[in-house]
Formats: sequence, C-alpha cells, structure tokens
Amino acid sequence: MERRDLLRSGLALAGASLLPQLTRSAAASAAREPGQFPPGFLWGAATAAYQVEGAYNEDGKGESVWDRFVLAPGKIKNGDTGNVACDSYHRYGDDIALLRTLNLKSYRFSIAWTRIQPSGTGPANARGLDYYDRLTDALLEAGIRPLPTLYHWDLPQELEDRGGWPNRDTAARFADYASIMGRRLGDRIEHWALFNESKAFTQLSYWFGVFAPGRKDALAFLKATHTVNLAHGLGFRALKTANSKLQVGSVYDVSPHIPASDSAADRAAAEAMDKLSNLWFVVPVLTGSYPEGVLPAASQAALLGMQSGDEQTMRADLDFVGLNYYSLTRVAASTQNSGVPGLDVTADWAVGPDEKTDFGWDIYPQGFYDILKRMQQVTGKRPIEITENGAAYNNKPDATGQIHDAKRIAYLRAHLLSLSRAIADGVPVRAYHCWSLLDNFEWAQGYSQRFGLTYVDFDNHQRRTIKESGYWYAKVAAANRVV
Ligand code: FCB
Repeated sequence: MERRDLLRSGLALAGASLLPQLTRSAAASAAREPGQFPPGFLWGAATAAYQVEGAYNEDGKGESVWDRFVLAPGKIKNGDTGNVACDSYHRYGDDIALLRTLNLKSYRFSIAWTRIQPSGTGPANARGLDYYDRLTDALLEAGIRPLPTLYHWDLPQELEDRGGWPNRDTAARFADYASIMGRRLGDRIEHWALFNESKAFTQLSYWFGVFAPGRKDALAFLKATHTVNLAHGLGFRALKTANSKLQVGSVYDVSPHIPASDSAADRAAAEAMDKLSNLWFVVPVLTGSYPEGVLPAASQAALLGMQSGDEQTMRADLDFVGLNYYSLTRVAASTQNSGVPGLDVTADWAVGPDEKTDFGWDIYPQGFYDILKRMQQVTGKRPIEITENGAAYNNKPDATGQIHDAKRIAYLRAHLLSLSRAIADGVPVRAYHCWSLLDNFEWAQGYSQRFGLTYVDFDNHQRRTIKESGYWYAKVAAANRVV
C-alpha cells in the first residue's frame, strides 16, 4: 500500500571550517533575483542508512526493526529488502565521488544505531564506529560537510522487543547512543540532526502498521510521540555534554494542510491535523508543551504517558531546524473512530487536482513557500536547513545508457524557485538537500520508487549513473541559482 493510500484509508487522529560564510545574516539577506540564492548557501544531497548501506549483518551490526520487518510476507513491494541496497557500506567512496561531480558541499546521511550498539544498549561496537569514521574523514577530505542524522527509523530490534518507542525508557537509550556518537565524531562533525521525521515514523510504524515494526495501535502511537519528544531533549543534552561546540538540530516533515472543502467540519479537521502533523514534535521540543486542541486537556497527560518534569526534559533550544517538504495534505473530516477513547480528531486524506509524481504524490511547489512561512512562526530566527525535497520518477536508461528525467528537473526547478522566494521574504534557510543522491530502498515500496539524482542498477553490482537531473542540479549548485 502506498503511504498516501494508507493515510487516505485510515488517518484517524487525526566541520566548522566548511561553513565560514554561513552566517545568519547571509542566509536571511534577500536574494537578488528570482531563483538566485544568498552567498554561502549550501547545496547538498541526502540518504539514510537502511536505504543505502546494505551490509545488514556485517562487522558486528545488530538486527534493526527494518531488518526484521522486510522478512514478513507482504509488507514490502516485490519482497524487496535493504540487505544489499546500494551497497554504500562498501561503496561510500563512489558516493562521495558522485557528490563531488555534482558540486555538492553537504552530505546528509544517517547512522545505523545497530552498527554502534547492536542491541541498542551497552558498549560500542568498534567496527561500526570505524565505518562512520572512514565516511566522515573521506567527506572532509573531499571538502564536503557531513550532516549525520542519528535516527532515521532503524531502531535496534532488541529495544523494540522491550516495548519500542512507546516505552519511555527508549528515550534514555537513545541519549546513550547519541553520547557515544558525539564523543567519537564530535571533534570532526559540527552539525548533527537528532531524528528524521518524527511524525512520519511514529504514525506509520505504530499506528498504521505499514512501517517497521508494523504495529497498529493508536495509543501506542501517542505514547511513542511523547518518548520521541523526551529523546529530543535527552539526546540534545547528551551531544552538548559530549562536546559543547556541537550544533544540534532535528528534522521535521512538514506540509500545508488544506481543507478538502469550505465546510466547517473540513476546516476544523485541517486545523487539528496541522497541529498534529506540523507542530506536535517541534513545538514541545522548543517550548515544553503540546499544541492545544488535539487531545482532550483532561486526558492528554495519561494518553501520552507524561510524568512530572517531562516538560523540562523534552525541551531543547535547537541550534537549527531541518525541514523536509514533498507535497501538500488535503484534509477532509471523517466520521471514523480514532481508536483512542476521548479522542475525536479524525481526518481523511483527499485527492486534489494537482499533477502527481510517479509515487502519486501531488506536485505543489507553492506549498513549499507556504509551509516555510508557517514554520518560521514557530522556529523564529533559528537557521533552517532543507534536509529533504525531491520526487519519484522511475525513468530507465535509454539505448545509450542515459537517463532522461525531465519531470524531476521540472519538479526541482519549481520547488527551488519557491524556496528562493521564501528566502527573499525573510525565511532564514541556509542549505538545501535533494532527496536523494541515489535511487535506493524506498521503505514499503522497495526499489519500485526511484528518487535519485543518480540511477542505481540493482541488478548489476549497484552500478551508478548520474541522471540528466543530476547534471542539471550540479549546474544549479555551481551557479548558486536556478538555471
Ligand atoms: C521521506 C523519508 C526518506 C524518503 C523520502 C522519499 O519521508 O525521510 O527516507 O523515504 O521520504
């Protein structure tokens, strides 16, 4: 089932030296002409460990929830797994060569917790640490800023067996892992992201059951959201304790929520869903309290499993905010039961008239501008990095081996124009990462959805070929403007 379908069908509850020029004032200064980016703007690309690394059981790596989940029949399209993926664990040198060819100066990757602590607790696995050491050093040598994300959805299976994210102890385990990483790489990596898309993974993993570990339990979902917020505060302080110079942020998936009609019910549903999706994680972390109007005030603490002092624990004065944008969300009121007693916020996703990508996601570049303006009201003057934006188009090589993906170029161009407008209008965005450097394992879709600037031949030793969009993006990065 596609992510969008599942939401439609059941969304009930609703290296410091590399960045000398990236000052806040440079990022905030108005772009001179449409599509022109401020001096010092950082161009990059993103990947995530389980989606590209492969080597799922090498060098002491433990089992993650995704290693387990992909084995369950019917969960992943075509029965695909990330066991080999792009084989980046062995071919990271090729990936870095691609980044260089594309003129990119920032690489957002993620660290697999199970390489570091195979069972999620206890001492670090030296061979796992060594891998990220090698990757970091090779990036720095290539003049590319490493931007690691500590958690991109691959929880150690053993922690899931102890209750997973709905178990508040997982927050403390995450902080231990963050501390190990900060102590090992904090001397070379300045910018860190704690989590990727807290909203997406808590909903899809614990409520709708389509992502690992595949649980379908609305209450477990709510508890997971709170543990993840606690983990933000604890993880933030663990990194700062490891090295006070570290700049720590987190990555949030955001999307404008548009009522499917003008009816009062649809408008109310859109408003509640906006809070639950766009604000539910970043607001508690920045302010210590949850947005009102989603859960009943009287039962909110019980539903989330909140304890006294949690408001302080989850608070973190993030140094920067990462935002991922792909599409808009059209919300219709639903009569469906949320599955949580007392919770009456319900909504369905509606289909809009917009053109779709091959994944079926609406193409809505204006939404990029709108959501940036909206999120800035929450994040204030903090620097923003676009940590993901991109589109799935499944073009194959032509007879000469070239990959012509004009639609991806059109998507990226339109979104970059929106972004440059938002910057000109004062949103302090300092970096943009295209999702993705490579075609890769797209979660429940397996290898059927290709987001890469680079084509990967999964049947032929993961051979990489830069697509037309990659060459186009390289020109944008070199010119610092949309071409
Ligand atoms: C985002 C995920 C990323 C990738 C893209 C297409 O939600 O963070 O891993 O799957 O979608």
